[in-house]
Amino acid sequence: MIAVEHILVTGGAGFIGSNFVHHLVGHTEARVTVLDKLTYAATRESLTGLPSDRVELVVGDIADAGVVDPLVDRVDAVVHYAAESHNDNSLADPAPFVQTNIVGTFTLLEAVRRSGVRFHHVSTDEVYGDLPLVTDEVPAKRFTEDTPYRPSSPYSATKAGSDHLVRAWVRSFGVRATISNCSNNYGPWQHVEKFIPRQITEVIEGRRPRVYGDGRNVRDWIHTDDHSAAVLAILQRGRIGETYLIGADGERSNLEVVRAILRHFGRDPEDPAEIEFVADRAGHDRRYAIESGKLRAELGWTPRFADFESGLADTIAWYQAHEDWWRPAKADTEASYAAKGQ
Ligand code: NAD
Ligand code: DAU
Repeated sequence: MIAVEHILVTGGAGFIGSNFVHHLVGHTEARVTVLDKLTYAATRESLTGLPSDRVELVVGDIADAGVVDPLVDRVDAVVHYAAESHNDNSLADPAPFVQTNIVGTFTLLEAVRRSGVRFHHVSTDEVYGDLPLVTDEVPAKRFTEDTPYRPSSPYSATKAGSDHLVRAWVRSFGVRATISNCSNNYGPWQHVEKFIPRQITEVIEGRRPRVYGDGRNVRDWIHTDDHSAAVLAILQRGRIGETYLIGADGERSNLEVVRAILRHFGRDPEDPAEIEFVADRAGHDRRYAIESGKLRAELGWTPRFADFESGLADTIAWYQAHEDWWRPAKADTEASYAAKGQ
């Protein structure tokens, strides 16, 4: 187990990064420095309530070596969440995805190469492309650590590129790094551009959920706190150079998720008029599914939120209680979706 006295968390003011910072403060004694550019996806509020003697926010860009190098020199480990993260945005403008996800990761890797600091790279199951929706295989195929890379979108291609950089820096330069590829997260502090918060807030606002295409696409949902626990386990006990897939057996079609949200609000989930079908996403991946046996067997991780419906109910309650937080972003987000027919 490595001593994690002081950790640099990149992207720690975003959705999953901020949840990880809360998890670290609750489950370790570590001091945390957050490096975050505070893009549209970040909020300082996500870090409120944390002890100021243990958590510090530095506003800066991971692609700026002048900012990154001195911070990396101060810490025992870097956990790298910062990214442009939304597929739809990557279709509209891929440039910031290349800059942050590839050049930013390269900048961090060069810093840890020089300093010898432990590095954990947070990545996505989307690097593996998608799986067929209908298959004769029993059990149905899932992603494993050995699945070939086949990314579909500019977002997932840049995440795949960043994973390749990490592996090359491990092999060629002996950087002490691990990688995790996780499935779709849900929970508090997720931007309203993403599927679950968008649908919850649409229903709160008295509108209908918006489903792309036929709604049969499948995502493998995991509560973000389970993701945090897995990343901490990998940071502390994972084998250097290894990749771990993180997933909680949470496969649901988009229609199933939307119906669960409607049911929660007392609306009729079986009434087709309750759902608005909108333009599909270009290149829309059909199905993601994670086989997380390696993580469970090697590191003893299991998800705490095994019941998706109850995790979803907690998340809906959180959005109902935090209207002040999401409302400022909602109108602009919906205007930009409306411009695309979504
Ligand atoms: P997010 O968009 O909510 O947060 C990203 C954070 O990174 C924001 O705080 C943003 O300000 C920061 N950031 C962006 N560019 C930066 C830069 N150049 N320098 C410094 N900070 C910058 O994203 P998220 O959903 O929390 O995802 C976090 C990470 O987890 C990403 O690497 C993503 O690929 C990965 N991931 C996400 C999911 C998911 O379901 N959301 C699943 C698996 C993996
Ligand atoms: O699998 C992990 C990935 O999950 C992460 O790497 C990404 O950062 C994260 O954004 C997420 O990507 P998705 O594209 O799967 O998530 P999103 O929330 O954008 O969409 C989930 C599904 O819902 C997808 O099939 C598209 C669909 N969708 C999305 C929106 C916003 C809709 O049907 N309607 C919508 O309004």
